Amino acid sequence: MNKLTAQQLRDTYLKFFESKGHKIIPSASLIPENDPSVLFTTAGMHPLVPYLLGEKHPAGNRLTDVQKCVRTGDIDEVGDKSHLTFFEMLGNWSLGDYFNEQAIKWSYEFLTEYLHIPVEKLAVTVFAGDDDAPRDVSSFEQWKACGIPEDKIFFLPKKNNWWIAGKTGPCGPDTEMFIDTDPEGEDCDPSSDNGRYLEIWNNVFMQFYKNEDGSYSKLKQRNVDTGMGLERTLCILNGVESVYDTELFYTAKQKIFDLTGKAYGDSAEITKAYRIILDHVRTATFLIGDTRGIVPSNVDQGYVLRRLIRRAVRFGRNIDLPTGSLAEIARCYVEKYSYYYDELALNAQKIYDELNKEEEKFTKTLADGLKEFNKVITHIQGATFPGKTAFRLYDMFGFPLEITMELAKENGFTVDVDGYNKAFEEHQAKSSAGSEQKFKGGLADTSEATARLHTATHLMQAALKKVLSPTVSQKGSNITVERLRFDFNFDRPMTAEEIAEVERLVNEAIKADVPVTMEEMTVDQAKASGAIGVFDNKYGEKVKVYTMGEFSKEICGGPHANRTGELGTFKIIKEQSSSAGIRRIKAVLIGNEQ
Ligand code: SER
Repeated sequence: MNKLTAQQLRDTYLKFFESKGHKIIPSASLIPENDPSVLFTTAGMHPLVPYLLGEKHPAGNRLTDVQKCVRTGDIDEVGDKSHLTFFEMLGNWSLGDYFNEQAIKWSYEFLTEYLHIPVEKLAVTVFAGDDDAPRDVSSFEQWKACGIPEDKIFFLPKKNNWWIAGKTGPCGPDTEMFIDTDPEGEDCDPSSDNGRYLEIWNNVFMQFYKNEDGSYSKLKQRNVDTGMGLERTLCILNGVESVYDTELFYTAKQKIFDLTGKAYGDSAEITKAYRIILDHVRTATFLIGDTRGIVPSNVDQGYVLRRLIRRAVRFGRNIDLPTGSLAEIARCYVEKYSYYYDELALNAQKIYDELNKEEEKFTKTLADGLKEFNKVITHIQGATFPGKTAFRLYDMFGFPLEITMELAKENGFTVDVDGYNKAFEEHQAKSSAGSEQKFKGGLADTSEATARLHTATHLMQAALKKVLSPTVSQKGSNITVERLRFDFNFDRPMTAEEIAEVERLVNEAIKADVPVTMEEMTVDQAKASGAIGVFDNKYGEKVKVYTMGEFSKEICGGPHANRTGELGTFKIIKEQSSSAGIRRIKAVLIGNEQ
C-alpha cells in the first residue's frame, strides 16, 4: 500500500478526480449557512444539498473536495482507535451526471492503482434490496467486472447499505469499500464489528428523498455522493494502530508528552486521556479558527465547543496537564494544518485566547465541582445519581452533563438524565434546550417556507443598507421555517422609525411582485454588476447572482422563491444586540407560513 502523508492523500485524490472531469471546490465552513436543522457540517454532501436536489452548481455537475466535518454524536467513543469528532472527508460528486457503474470503476481504479491497495485486501458491500428500492445488481456486476471476486461482494440490507443524513432528505442505496485486514480470519461479512473489515470509502447512489411520513420520492436527478475519511485511510495505508498514530497528530502528541512527562501507550488510561485531548483540542481549533468561527457559550454550537474544551480539561487532569496547555497543543495543529487551511493561521491568536479563557474558567470550578461530586456520592443510596444534582453541577460548577455522566459511571452510578433535563428546562430559556437535540446532526431544511424567508433576507439586507448605511452587511444568518435571523454590523439600536422604514421597503418589494432571477457569472462580473455578498469565490470560478428587480442583487447559493409576491407580509419581531458592534434582527412573513 502507498504510505502517503495527509497532504499527498488530499492531492492524489483531488488530482485523480480532476483528471476525470471534476472541478475542485474548496471546503465549506464547519458552521452551516442558512441551515437551522444542524449545528455543524457533518459530511461532504451537506453543503451540496441544494445541488443534489436539482439546483445547478456554478462549478458544474462533477465536483470534488476535501471537506472539514464535525460529528459529535459519538463523542463517548472518542478514546478508542478510530473515533474522532473532527475529520476531513475526501469526496466526489455527480450531480445528475454519471451514476453507479462509472463511480465504482473510478473507485476501484483509485484504490488499486493510486493507493496501491492489493485487490485481495478489498471487500465491498452492496444494497440487498427491499420494498423501497431494488437489489443493486448492477453495482454487484460492476464490482465483479472490475475484478473483485464474488465471495468478497456482500449484499446487505438497508440498515447497512443505505445512506441518509438525519431523518429526512436526499438518500439512496450505497456501496461501501472495506480493507480486509485478515483474509484468513473468522468467516464473517463487513457488518461484523470484530475488526476484520475496516471501512475506507462509501459511494451513495442518491436518487430518493425521504419524506417526513417515511415515504420515499424520486429526486429530479440521480446523483453520486462519495465520502472517504482522510484520517482512517491514512491509518490503513500506513499500517498504524489507530488514527491517533498518523502523522497528523505527531507534534501535538509530542507536546503533551513534553508538558506532562506521561507517555502515550504507557497505560490504557493515559492513552485514552491523550486521545480525548488530541481530538477535542483539534476540533476546538478548527471550530474557533473557522471562517465563520465560534466561541464557547451556553447555546448551540458554542455549547458543543464548550463541552469539548471542558472535557479535554477534565481528562487533562488525569495526566497532570498544566493549565494553559490547550493553547500550546492547538499551536501544533495551527502549524500542522495552516498550509491547507489558512483560516487557522489567520485566526491563530483568537484560537489561543479563547482556549486559554475557557480553560482558565473551567479550571477554577473543576476542583470544587469534583469535591462536591465526591461528597454527593458518599450519600447516595442505590445506583442512581440524582438528575437535580447533575444539574446543580452544571449550573454552579459548569459541568456539562456528559462529564457528570462519565464521573458517575467511573464510580458505579447512572445519572437520572430525565431528572437532569427536567431541572434544566425549569431553569433555562426554551431556546437553549434545542442544542442538545441538534447535537446529533441532521440535514438542511429546504422547505418552501425557508426559501421564502431566505428571499426576504435579501430584501431586508438591501433595505438595511438604504435605511442605515451602505456599510451595513451580513455577519450571520440563520433561518428556520418560522423566522429569519440576521446579524449585521451596526453600532447602536435601530430606532422605531428605522425599523418601520425597513419593513416598508421590504413590503414594497414584495407588493411589486417582481421575479427572482438568477444569473451565473464570475466574481469580477458579479462585483461589477453591483451585487453584494461575500466575494471569496467560494464555489470556484462562477457564482450565482440573484436579482429581484431594482430591489436586490446578491451573490447566493439559493434556494429562493420564484417571485417576491409569494412572500406574504414582512414583519420585524425583534431588534437587539448580538455582540459588540453587531445587531441582530428576527423577522417573520405573515400570511404565508408553512
Ligand atoms: N454522504 C456519505 C457519507 O457521509 C458519502 O459521502 O458517508
